[in-house]
Amino acid sequence: MKRLAIPTDPIAGQKPGTSGLRKQTKVFMGPHYLENFVQSIWNGIGGAGGKTFVLGGDGRYFNDRAAQVILRMAAASGATRVIVGQNALLSTPAASNLIRQRGTDGGIILSASHNPGGPDEDFGVKFNMPNGGPAPKDVTNRIYAATQSLRGYDLLEAQDVDLSVVGETVLDQMAVEVVDPVSDYADLMETLFDFDAIRAYLASGATIAFDAMHAVTGPYATEILGRRLGAPVSSILNAVPLPDFGGGHPDPNPIWAKPLVDLVMGPDAPDFAAASDGDGDRNMILGKGLYVTPSDSLAVLAANAHLAPGYAGGLAGVARSMPTSRALDRVAEARGLDVYETPTGWKFFGNLLDAGRITLCGEESAGTGSDHVREKDGLWAVLLWLNILAVKKQSVAEILQEHWREFGRNYYSRHDYEAVDAARASKMMDGLAARLPTLAGQGFAGLTVARADEFAYDDPVDGSHAAHQGLRVDFEGGARIVFRLSGTGTVGATLRVYLEAYEDDPSRLNADADTALAAMIDAAEAIAGIRDHTGRDAPDVRT
Ligand code: G1P
Ligand code: ZN
Repeated sequence: MKRLAIPTDPIAGQKPGTSGLRKQTKVFMGPHYLENFVQSIWNGIGGAGGKTFVLGGDGRYFNDRAAQVILRMAAASGATRVIVGQNALLSTPAASNLIRQRGTDGGIILSASHNPGGPDEDFGVKFNMPNGGPAPKDVTNRIYAATQSLRGYDLLEAQDVDLSVVGETVLDQMAVEVVDPVSDYADLMETLFDFDAIRAYLASGATIAFDAMHAVTGPYATEILGRRLGAPVSSILNAVPLPDFGGGHPDPNPIWAKPLVDLVMGPDAPDFAAASDGDGDRNMILGKGLYVTPSDSLAVLAANAHLAPGYAGGLAGVARSMPTSRALDRVAEARGLDVYETPTGWKFFGNLLDAGRITLCGEESAGTGSDHVREKDGLWAVLLWLNILAVKKQSVAEILQEHWREFGRNYYSRHDYEAVDAARASKMMDGLAARLPTLAGQGFAGLTVARADEFAYDDPVDGSHAAHQGLRVDFEGGARIVFRLSGTGTVGATLRVYLEAYEDDPSRLNADADTALAAMIDAAEAIAGIRDHTGRDAPDVRT
């Protein structure tokens, strides 16, 4: 074994409280960088000695080599066993499942999610807890503190482990168990969904398209949708994971998955289409000629989950992140379910799921999931949709229409202003936060403010408090604007403006979202002065 001293303090860039480290790949590949962070994880969790971990990633550039380094470091620090996906692949939800199912001490996931991959793109390392979920703030703060006091790391001098063959080998004293990355996850899906019904639905002529975006869900979709459910191979697009994701952003939204959106808007549209992101935790849902917003998808899934065997007993409760549209709340109200509003980020759902308070949860940023794992889960959402389609024997469009007629429609859009000057963005947010108490009763673009506040969250399970989680402006009639600075942007600041308008007039359920939200866009500008503060005339991205 080798103990190496660290020449500098190369991981000072980690933000305390962030649930992992995401950086340019080159930074991770720099001398000692990955090693220092991994040693800080071991130190932050009280050492790796005697522990069992899960290890895998989304297949992006450097995934394979990073996995070998982590294996050598786990062995040097006395870990008992590492369960690693074949070829170091594991989707984030599959890793979460393995961590839970095998009763491990946690796991390391190698991914920068939907960020592009490659030598000049991004890489990431994240530690998940024994419950399968991202490390909470106290743990990530300990990891961060460990980065600040690190004096060296332990690394076994050894050759690479062959990760291409399923089976068990030994690295020094540590067992390395290479597992099929897909099979346990696929088995879990079979316990939740009616595979017979979905198989019959597909056999009856229903057509689907799933875009794996050259990322980790390719092998999962091939096994589950193709082999187990009988979808034709041609319905799984970009199924081979590539280190650079084929040069694209593996981000399942109408911008980065445009070819799929074009397909459903064109003459050869399948009945159902979906995509997932780099590490397989996000999803995009499409029907013939239409895009289902993630907020609507969450509400539809909540209203219909009981049609799948895994949820036939009903839902304990539901949760959404604060900026996610309140379409979910309408379902919860009608069905007598508790609904929780949490800060942005999946980790806040974990406590509610662990405590059995909720069964289903989601975010406007295309993450949906349930208590089956402790991460959002892209293919899970796809399979729940397919199960619902198979049982209801309706089109995606019919399901949405029926949903809106029953619960009303929350028109929704998110506007992102990227790489804004950080100081100016903070100034805008601080100024607006200070003015919030004066807004009630005021009119903007024909809308009257009902109340305005800064969102803070008291965790009902562990009592922790999260302050400054975004600015909310509620209007009479159910419309809302939320202003928030991104916690994941890497350049300057990213301002997110979330617009929502409620409509329950049956004759107005099918407007174009931009038209339905036009007044909201004007109101957001009038309230916050986005143009003056950011120097931008329009958002960079609208989703
Ligand atoms: C974004 C999304 C958020 C998601 C997070 C991690 O965070 O908005 O819903 O949980 O990525 O995938 P943000 O950049 O808004 O802080
Ligand atoms: Zn992801």
